[in-house]
Amino acid sequence: MADFKDRVRKILSKKETPPLCFLHSFGCQQNVSDGEKILGLLCEIGYGVTNDISSADLIIYNTCAVRENAELKIYGLVGNLKHLKEQNPDVIIGICGCMAQQEHVVEKIKKTYKQVDLIFGTFALNELPRLLYEVLTERKTAVDITEHNSDISEEIKAVRSSGFKAGVPIMYGCNNFCSYCIVPYVRGRERSRTPEAILKEVKELTDSGCKEIMLLGQNVNSYGKTLEDPVSFSELLRMINDIDGDFKIRFMSPHPKDATNELIDTIIDCDKICKHMHLPLQSGSNRILEAMNRRYTAEKYMEIVNYARSRVHDFSFSTDIIVGFPNETEEDFRETLKIMREVKYDNIFSFIYSKRTGTKAALIEDKTTDEEKGRRMRELLELQREISSEFFKRFEGRTLDVLFESETKNKGVFTGKSDEFIIVEAKADSSVIGRRKKVKITKAFNWALQGEIIN
Ligand code: 5AD
Ligand code: SF4
Repeated sequence: MADFKDRVRKILSKKETPPLCFLHSFGCQQNVSDGEKILGLLCEIGYGVTNDISSADLIIYNTCAVRENAELKIYGLVGNLKHLKEQNPDVIIGICGCMAQQEHVVEKIKKTYKQVDLIFGTFALNELPRLLYEVLTERKTAVDITEHNSDISEEIKAVRSSGFKAGVPIMYGCNNFCSYCIVPYVRGRERSRTPEAILKEVKELTDSGCKEIMLLGQNVNSYGKTLEDPVSFSELLRMINDIDGDFKIRFMSPHPKDATNELIDTIIDCDKICKHMHLPLQSGSNRILEAMNRRYTAEKYMEIVNYARSRVHDFSFSTDIIVGFPNETEEDFRETLKIMREVKYDNIFSFIYSKRTGTKAALIEDKTTDEEKGRRMRELLELQREISSEFFKRFEGRTLDVLFESETKNKGVFTGKSDEFIIVEAKADSSVIGRRKKVKITKAFNWALQGEIIN
């Protein structure tokens, strides 16, 4: 890679002003994290970063493939870039990430979106200098979606979008093959980073003032199994908790099939870990869970929740739910609503099932209509609104730790997240951004809490 880095650097240094790159990441935090590393690599080889797409010499969309909507959006955006390319034929347009890892997508882009110069998948981040060199010297479309068995180099320093919170990947890939999910096909098998590499990164981040570390992986609680010296996720959490500094730890996402009481005990024992877990349920029906190949039952899921709540009375949970998995019946759907009532999630991310070519579920003939799925989704959202407006009331009068992130549309009102991962708004000035403050909650809405900063 070093060789191609030098060659690209040399070409770029001949330009009058340093060339600029624009990168936008879609989808999950893992993808955002990849995007930050790609930017780091581009800076190393001589690009500056811009947020203004029209002034960029290199445009990269780092894409998501989890649902069809995400892909349609990208096709729309890339279509729009045709004009830009006509005005400025020198601009380089690239597509990478999960969507680009699929062969049928590459074919479609090559055929229909001729303005695209660069297509590379999730395994080819280290190949970017070579691919860019090919585009710069040969003016041809460079494509690489081979499954190279190397992850992004540990040496590359990410260009992070925030100074006070950071995503740190602890593993890549997924072995679970949930029947609806494209991720195992586009991100390959599970690989864990070494604890040394992770601890070093967390230490550097927290030493430079980062207040929140989000550990990332498709299934974080199977961390460490593939390492030469296996380390469990709970052990890793304890090691990170032992790092000195004023910061909190979150992680995303654990899988219910691998969630143990030991993990809950670790979360509760470690003072830096937020007492909140994003635990994807997907469905409350055992029949659907089996068809999804999730390998847990609704009862096992509730055991985890109940154990956590037996130790910390209002341990906070959020979740992902898929509505309208092929042939989900009204009865199955009611089971999902039942679990939502039992758990009382603080937040849910719900998605209508999207058929993904290449997955097992895509082969099922689905008899449920789109109208029916839409109706179920509306009912589920309405129930969650009721649950959170009632359940959020438990915070009124209490004091929460809130990491403030930005100003809202209302001048002088700032927003952040509590340890429970709930949006909290309070009057303040811009010095609160990036700081953790104690906020006394005065009012609960169904989507957020309002309060006063007490120190
Ligand atoms: N259709 C709808 N939602 C999906 N997810 C993953 N694959 C699909 C799909 N094919 C959702 C799951 C997962 C979240 C990241 O995206 O709920 O937890
Ligand atoms: Fe997809 Fe299941 Fe892996 Fe999550 S655990 S990435 S839903 S296959």
